[in-house]
Amino acid sequence: MSEPLSVGIIGTGWCGGIRAIACANSPLVGELHIAEIRPERLQEVADQVHPATATTNWEELVANPDIQAVMISATPETTHYPMTKAALEAGKHVLLEKPMALTLDEADELIEIAESKGLKFTIGYSQRFNSKQAFAKKSLREGTIGEPVSVLVSRHITRQLGKKISDRIRLSPAAMEATHDIDFAMWLLEPRRPVRVYSQVAYGIKKDQGVPDTQIIVVTMDDGVVVTIGAGWSLPLGYPNFSTTWIEVIGTDGALLMDASHKDIVLNTTSRGVEFPLSTMPGEYVDHVYAGPMERETIHFLEAVAYDRPVMVDPRLARQTMEIYLAADLSADRGEVVTLPLQPAEVEAVLSSAGA
Ligand SMILES: NC(=O)c1ccc[n+]([C@@H]2O[C@H](COP(=O)([O-])OP(=O)(O)OC[C@H]3O[C@@H](n4cnc5c(N)ncnc54)[C@H](O)[C@@H]3O)[C@@H](O)[C@H]2O)c1
Repeated sequence: MSEPLSVGIIGTGWCGGIRAIACANSPLVGELHIAEIRPERLQEVADQVHPATATTNWEELVANPDIQAVMISATPETTHYPMTKAALEAGKHVLLEKPMALTLDEADELIEIAESKGLKFTIGYSQRFNSKQAFAKKSLREGTIGEPVSVLVSRHITRQLGKKISDRIRLSPAAMEATHDIDFAMWLLEPRRPVRVYSQVAYGIKKDQGVPDTQIIVVTMDDGVVVTIGAGWSLPLGYPNFSTTWIEVIGTDGALLMDASHKDIVLNTTSRGVEFPLSTMPGEYVDHVYAGPMERETIHFLEAVAYDRPVMVDPRLARQTMEIYLAADLSADRGEVVTLPLQPAEVEAVLSSAGA
């Protein structure tokens, strides 16, 4: 690396705010530029990170020729494709929050632009930067538990966070929650490929919105390994953004059982009762330390750009993850097993049913 990087962040809400602080603290970043449409939030983050520029117009960041890399953390998720397309076309390396797009065609287009211009393009699947998930990957790579037989991940978040997500866009628990665990399982099982998907949804408190509370997905890999993923977003309130995950990886010579339920810290106060701190999925700053995966993920992207290293999440794998959750939604709609790859008519059917 010759000079420190000039980096832009579009959308400095929850995740973008974390990434902005991580960038501001990193010696890899020379200049930081932020864009956020809510002026009060723009000001709040600017006060924390002292950016070179702060604007409510994200297109100014894309038009700035000095900016080499952009992190796109805006919501709603309909912003992801047009912002990423514009940033890549302007020659910026991009770290984009999941989901990478709404349709497979959009995903293909983004991958093609990035590849044709030799740009780093990656998706923020933060959970790969958790030590537990990294340990599972290492264990399989080193053969510690032999050959994989089955993988199970069950993830639930609170109804409070679930409401924030499902109020802004009608995407399923597969697309918005299970996507993390599909990414994790596919990364774990590389180079195996998924061949069949079956999914069922169950309705509860979100029925009035036409959104399921829970979705169960079974993915069969080309060598017969079976992946089961459960995702829900209607846990009763415990801690804001509380997320709980249970992971089982069964192998021929061993098994790995991982409790990522975040019940290891119980804070009980007379005013607020029991809470489970440090249980958010991206993690959070605790004074001088960061508890969770998102800070490390942000630095990893900066390092990939600065030292021309590979990115952690290959966008082609993120595209495969997208195909799996679209297949899961189609399977749940039809009550049938769906074979991969998805046919164009099937993609059309699932997108029109989601109103995309
Ligand atoms: N990897 C993880 O652990 C994780 C966790 C939560 C969310 N996410 C993903 O990250 C993304 C961001 O989620 P969040 O919870 O931070 O959302 P958020 O709503 O808190 O923040 C998004 C911000 O984007 C801003 N914005 C909207 N349109 C804009 C525009 N045109 N220009 C500039 N700013 C704009 C909003 O005002 C808001 O502040 C989502 O797509 C979500 O799927 C990932």
